[in-house]
Amino acid sequence: MAWRDLRELLDDGLTGDLRRVAEPFAPRHEIAAALRQAPTEAPALLFENIAGHPGWRVAGNLIATRRRLALALGVPVEQLADHCAARRGQSIDPVRADEVPVQQVVREGGDGLLGALPILTHHAEDGGPYISIGVVMCRDPVSGERGMGVHRMMVKGGRRLTVMFANPPMSRLHAAAEARGEPLPVVIALGLDPATLVGAVVRGGAQGADKLGLAGALRGRPVDLAPARTVPLEVPARAEIVIEGRVLSGVREAEGPFGENSGTYFSDTSPVIEVSAITHREQPIYPGLCPGSADVDMLLWLAAGADLLAQLRAQVAGVIDLELARGTAAFSMIVSVARDCSRSEARRLAQLALALDRRLKTITIVNDDIDIRDPNDVAWAIATRWQPARDTVVMEGTDAYVIDPSASGAGQGSKAAFIALRAATGQDARMRLDAAALAKAQALFRPPGFV
Ligand SMILES: Cc1cc2nc3c(=O)[nH]c(=O)nc-3n(C[C@H](O)[C@H](O)[C@H](O)COP(=O)(O)O)c2cc1C
Repeated sequence: MAWRDLRELLDDGLTGDLRRVAEPFAPRHEIAAALRQAPTEAPALLFENIAGHPGWRVAGNLIATRRRLALALGVPVEQLADHCAARRGQSIDPVRADEVPVQQVVREGGDGLLGALPILTHHAEDGGPYISIGVVMCRDPVSGERGMGVHRMMVKGGRRLTVMFANPPMSRLHAAAEARGEPLPVVIALGLDPATLVGAVVRGGAQGADKLGLAGALRGRPVDLAPARTVPLEVPARAEIVIEGRVLSGVREAEGPFGENSGTYFSDTSPVIEVSAITHREQPIYPGLCPGSADVDMLLWLAAGADLLAQLRAQVAGVIDLELARGTAAFSMIVSVARDCSRSEARRLAQLALALDRRLKTITIVNDDIDIRDPNDVAWAIATRWQPARDTVVMEGTDAYVIDPSASGAGQGSKAAFIALRAATGQDARMRLDAAALAKAQALFRPPGFV
């Protein structure tokens, strides 16, 4: 079973793998730099001294390693993908909360409401502070359907945020409200337990699964909800912070630049949320997530990769594992297949994956003697096993993903697969060192005192 809330994970789960940072760090640039530059095996970070925001804390780098992601979801690391795929079809409905810690402090008045929060400014040319990991939730007033997703929001001053609705279900429910000429009430939950967060970013699918029910299934226990203070919605009672407000009908404002997960700046014209209240816990923890960081890669792997892996395994024999290339915003994927998977079968696999995943732009298919988590190994497979004319599949006329800088303004894009499999003759078996000689050599380079 996963953690009840973010605090329980930090206090009881991450002991030994959490660094509490006592020195002052500023929300403008400094915390994001620490999150983005954290080395691969760095611990989770809890900044306890936020310049200009006494009493507030910022947590980040929480799920940057597979080990921590597994711990956060309460499953053994080797079962991560299977666990998520299995829970995808399940649902545990939310329940009415007995206690509502997120409403310990209520702020409703004044124009400077958003200034109370240590909202991070991430990259050098960013146009201002951005909420990068806020879960936006709504309920369609006509159908009752719940919407939930992570959507970036820029602080525009006072009580206003822009919000980027590029993905369903929020984009669809917002469009429906606008077509009726109505504002859309929303709540934005910040500082959720990771399982609920993952529930918010998984693919909704054609039926638009209820993501709160899915979050409950991922947690193995229901999400606790309580009535919001100023909008006709419910809020996750154990979040750290909740922002309440309405998306104004027919209003758009310029936002950006914002350094995106694609590694480049992005500007847009987006809908506007007018904030009506902010509630939070005492000693609140603001969730920091820097675009392009390991936390994002892990979140996308779980949200997009784990599900796709299950679908591919069901359709094509010999599919072994799947990884997203780090820092590519899930545009590039590597899949490993068994030795007996033929090139034609690999092409079918590639076409299937590219068609199923809207965001995916390139897929590289390798055999399982390649470590798909080692970029050098993958580069070696492409250099030595891929013949460009023979082994490339190009798919044209696909939708370009909105934050892909190479497709900006085009609307339409294309996709490619690289089949980098071993030759049937077996003449490209990898050279290897003699096992006993390797062990002796490794002892030579082992640091003194290291057994
Ligand atoms: C870190 C992160 C940031 C995201 N930011 C946005 C965003 O700004 N706008 C948006 O529409 N979707 C954003 N998403 C995607 C949605 O939250 C959600 O994953 C997506 O709607 C689910 O996929 P689907 O549209 O295929 O159902 C983000 C996802 C992640 C993991």
